[in-house]
Amino acid sequence: MDVLREFLEFIESSRPEPVGRLLRRVLLKSRELTGAEAGTIFIVRGRGATRRLEAADSQNDVVPVTSATFVLPITTSSIAGYTAATGETVFVDDLYELPEEVPFTFDRSFDRRHGYRSRSMLCFPLLNYDRRVVGVVQLINRRVEGHDRPAAFGDEQAGLIVPVNHIVGAAIERADMLERIRAQNVRLRDRNRTLAEQRARIAALQDETEDAFRLSINLLARAAEVHDRDTAAHVLRVNEYSHFIASELGMPAAFCDEIRYSAQLHDVGKMSVDGRVLRKRGPLDDEERAEMCRHPEYGFQILEPSDRLQMAASIALNHHERWDGTGYPNRRRGEEIPIEARIVALADIYDALRSPRPYKPGLDHERTVRILAEGDDRLDPEGHLDPTLRVLFAARHAGLAEIWDRFSPSAAEAEAGPDHSSSSLTAVP
Ligand SMILES: [Fe+2]
Ligand SMILES: [Fe+2]
Repeated sequence: MDVLREFLEFIESSRPEPVGRLLRRVLLKSRELTGAEAGTIFIVRGRGATRRLEAADSQNDVVPVTSATFVLPITTSSIAGYTAATGETVFVDDLYELPEEVPFTFDRSFDRRHGYRSRSMLCFPLLNYDRRVVGVVQLINRRVEGHDRPAAFGDEQAGLIVPVNHIVGAAIERADMLERIRAQNVRLRDRNRTLAEQRARIAALQDETEDAFRLSINLLARAAEVHDRDTAAHVLRVNEYSHFIASELGMPAAFCDEIRYSAQLHDVGKMSVDGRVLRKRGPLDDEERAEMCRHPEYGFQILEPSDRLQMAASIALNHHERWDGTGYPNRRRGEEIPIEARIVALADIYDALRSPRPYKPGLDHERTVRILAEGDDRLDPEGHLDPTLRVLFAARHAGLAEIWDRFSPSAAEAEAGPDHSSSSLTAVP
């Protein structure tokens, strides 16, 4: 009974450890208790048709053995397979002289390779609490002091181990399960890391796509200027003024972000205006003026098909509408005019007043503020602009001056060129 208690204590005291190490210790302890010179311990793996015995450790005090890695099918043709299949403990006195009636044979290849002689064997199953076989221990050649020839294993040796085999089996099953859970966790962690990396790559790709998109529409905005006096600096400033005004108005961040790249496309429709009209110097006749005034609709047609350019399309169509309904092309009035177009109209007029033209000098900020407040012979702010935006401009106009200074006009800005049109100031029919 002392031996039994010792075995139980040995199993219970074992801290959670890799199942391979536990199996090695179980084999060592089994050999120690029975005096076996050699042995192999197997674990049952797989389920259903793939159920098999995998050798987890081999030990031999006489000849060196490398770590066992072989696999046996669970059939009665081998001794370990027989024990796994039937749950029976097998005693063999001499492995080279098996009784006729047994279904299994003994494979002598190990003995031949190592010049070893396997003689007696005790082979018993390790069972879990459901009495299912989870492993097999095969002990070989019981050594008895003073005897050269190994003795047979008997009930005395089996009695030392077999009563605790289900405790050992349960410990092995638990260790094996823990190990598989741990391996599963590692796989999950690896998968999560892979997913995180993929997400980062997709995000980077989206950033690139977004950059490419913004570059494309800036190029589109500039393509429209080929025949126009407006410059790259003008469209960039209109972007910034519009963003500033929208933010000051308390518009949502997504709106502010969108208007910042959409505003520059307000005159993109000029690409479609008859080139002779665009290039003509001097005043336009009625027909030419009518063609020029189609640029909001041309712009809308260019931009409307794109999901990402819906706000830009709305700005292009409505940036010449006026608060009092005297604008074009649809004579919309008041809040019928989309807010993004009302904002861009204010931004566009501010920039037009400040920009030098062949027929006028650029105005300074103070003078521009005064005209936007009181009007002059060409501009009627009350009829022209959203009153809310006029109040906002009166309070926050310093922000626009700052943008003008930051994106200061290049020399090209002052160059003479054909001029009819772009701002609401000059293009009204
Ligand atoms: Fe403009
Ligand atoms: Fe325009």
